Amino acid sequence: MKDQDDGSRILKAVLIGDGRVGKTSMRRNYLGDDFIEGHIATIGVDLATKRILFEKEIVKFIIWDLAGQPTFEKVRGHYYRGCNGIILVYSVIDRDSFQNASKWLVEAYRNMGVLPPTVIVGNKIDLRDAVPSSQRVTTEEGQKFKEYFEAKLNIPAYFIETSAKTGENIQTTFTELLRMMKQADTEEPGHFVR
Ligand code: GTP
Repeated sequence: MKDQDDGSRILKAVLIGDGRVGKTSMRRNYLGDDFIEGHIATIGVDLATKRILFEKEIVKFIIWDLAGQPTFEKVRGHYYRGCNGIILVYSVIDRDSFQNASKWLVEAYRNMGVLPPTVIVGNKIDLRDAVPSSQRVTTEEGQKFKEYFEAKLNIPAYFIETSAKTGENIQTTFTELLRMMKQADTEEPGHFVR
């Protein structure tokens, strides 16, 4: 999709995952905002836009940050549509949030049909050593989930572990998504030509 004002490419992404896993903190870190220690739950949805120079092209990057609480499911439904990419976040110190990851993909599928490129993120790696091993989600588990998901749904996926507190791998997360979204967006017209 193109911006009507200046013709630049628009790429829209949604951040999804359980409450408190760090979606808002990741978005804030990516945009250069300060880390907030306390949890301020997102109400419904939050929006951020950023004009960026990506692979020599100006892109309007829109990030929908969807509230993770189950009560907001109806609100979330509207924001999936028309998105070019998904960032699905769980916390590596919260096994429930990892178990729920596939439910989030089901919700996305219900609202979007075929899923767009997706980055699967295990966040809060700075805290992994601070919790008992029974609570930790390992890198191998995250990687396996991504492989299973990619094979089953046949869509481009990328797995990464991050800390929104230290900023580790946050830029890479968004850059990888942008790369996959742009590739899919560029390839799309070709499907009609063939
Ligand atoms: P909802 O809006 O309820 O969906 O939550 P969210 O997923 O947007 O989580 P949020 O970014 O609000 O973070 C929840 C809590 O975890 C806050 O207290 C953050 O400070 C903390 N937090 C988020 N990411 C990290 C991280 O990588 N490391 C550490 N140590 N804390 C984090």
